[in-house]
Amino acid sequence: MSDYIHIFHRGTDPNEERTILVCHGTGGDEHSLVPFAESLLPGASILSPRGNVLEGALPRFFRRLAEGVFDQDDLVFRAGQLARFVAESADTYGFDAAKVVGFGYSNGANILHTALLLHPDVSAELVLLRAMPTLSASKLAGSLDEAHPRLASKRILLSQGDSDPIVPNELSNELATLLSSQGAQVQLSWQHSGHAITRSELEAARDWLA
Ligand code: MLT
Repeated sequence: MSDYIHIFHRGTDPNEERTILVCHGTGGDEHSLVPFAESLLPGASILSPRGNVLEGALPRFFRRLAEGVFDQDDLVFRAGQLARFVAESADTYGFDAAKVVGFGYSNGANILHTALLLHPDVSAELVLLRAMPTLSASKLAGSLDEAHPRLASKRILLSQGDSDPIVPNELSNELATLLSSQGAQVQLSWQHSGHAITRSELEAARDWLA
């Protein structure tokens, strides 16, 4: 069934019904963020795919042509592929597809919010670390309807570095505005950091999910 090498760990806490969908950054794999996911949502099931696009030897979730320049057709295709993978995994492993929390870093955060915009059923909540806008104006115009926002029941924590050399601050603001314009409840949280993950933002994300 699977388009992805992945791991699934069944949850150990019967009171935690959520499953955390983990998407790594460029060059990571299905194991990279699992320890962080375990601390974000203790006892939850974990579904962690490895990005199935290679940039040289580095796994990613969609093709890029240059830093911050994305292959739009591949991006749309891969977002659909991820959404399908989550739905199929819910059937295979028996978790509730309506209670999926996406957790992604950098390229993994980017595929998660893109998939949510195009396929809102993919998750209910997102924790995004160092994300940036991905879809071109024409792809957005073709898929979004300002009059009927698609993300009305979604919660999103967008955790960004205030001195990130890869994601300038205006792109963080642009992404927060885009997701809010579709009705999501977005919290934009600034870290005194660059592109790397900090311990304090993981603690804040755990509190946000609690
Ligand atoms: C991306 O390609 O998704 C972003 O540039 C983040 C990265 O992977 O460096």
